[in-house]
Amino acid sequence: MKLNRSILIGTLAAATAGFLLTRSFAAESPKTLKADVGRGAEIVASGTDYGVAACARCHAFDGTADGSGAFPKLSGISSYYLEKQLRDFASGLRTDAIMSAIARKMKVEDIADVSEYYAGVRGTPTPAPPAAQDRLALGTRLATVGDEEKKIQACEGCHGAAGRGEGPAIPPLAGQYSQYIAFQMRMWQMGYRKNDANQQMGNIARRLSAKDIEAIGLYFERLPQKDLAKNKRQP
Ligand code: HEC
Ligand code: HEC
Repeated sequence: MKLNRSILIGTLAAATAGFLLTRSFAAESPKTLKADVGRGAEIVASGTDYGVAACARCHAFDGTADGSGAFPKLSGISSYYLEKQLRDFASGLRTDAIMSAIARKMKVEDIADVSEYYAGVRGTPTPAPPAAQDRLALGTRLATVGDEEKKIQACEGCHGAAGRGEGPAIPPLAGQYSQYIAFQMRMWQMGYRKNDANQQMGNIARRLSAKDIEAIGLYFERLPQKDLAKNKRQP
């Protein structure tokens, strides 16, 4: 746990009711709101007294989550993308039993602050999952070249070389848990996730077999989370 205690205590002192009220009623849009990383760290560590759960319970302080793959890594992702996902969970555009409930309780500035915090943390590298050579070869091919016959675009055409992400709007996939990647692909296949513009991801996911999805996840999880495109708030 690399949390700076003095920042935490300082922020706690500053976060009096008056301070919070002024900020929540200020007519600032998410784009112009100046995010408070210290306050973000505080919410990540202990949640809020109006019911926002402590993010660290599932995503860890450094955004690496617990390694089970049930919870995504948040390290290395842009604040822009994290904010968008939280707003989509809150509005119902993206749904998840746990995250929708949490995001609906978050104020605009909570979303900005935690997103800025996680965009700035450095995750802990996790061990690559074991993968058979033929699976890895399939995953590498689909991710880097695609499949012309099945009309599958190379993932890295949008998600950047080595899954580094492309600008703040297309998230990095490097180092992300394969179970999480596979779960999102199934959500898009079934039409349960549809929060991307123009349904690009849905159209791609529907062309992939279960074997393809597993292979692509294994490919991306093995890539290191370095030189990622992140931290910019707007595309
Ligand atoms: C009880 C566990 C739990 C807690 C606490 C929790 N999350 Fe999550 N979070 C999840 C799960 C599960 C998902 C995957 C949802 C899905 O499959 O769509 C997720 C997904 C996300 C995503 C989407 C990531 C992506 O790459 O698209 C963001 C952003 C996120 N959480 C932020 C937060 C923040 C910020 C907090 C604290 C305010 C928080 N979470 C608290 C379980 C949790
Ligand atoms: C045409 C561009 C494009 C291509 C090609 C593409 N993606 Fe995406 N992908 C996106 C965009 C845009 C998003 C962000 C959606 C959003 O805003 O919620 C995304 C999001 C994702 C996410 C969600 C990540 C997260 O943390 O929530 C996964 C997983 C993903 N893509 C996997 C893939 C895989 C695997 C492939 C290749 C088979 C692929 N993508 C090809 C544009 C693309």
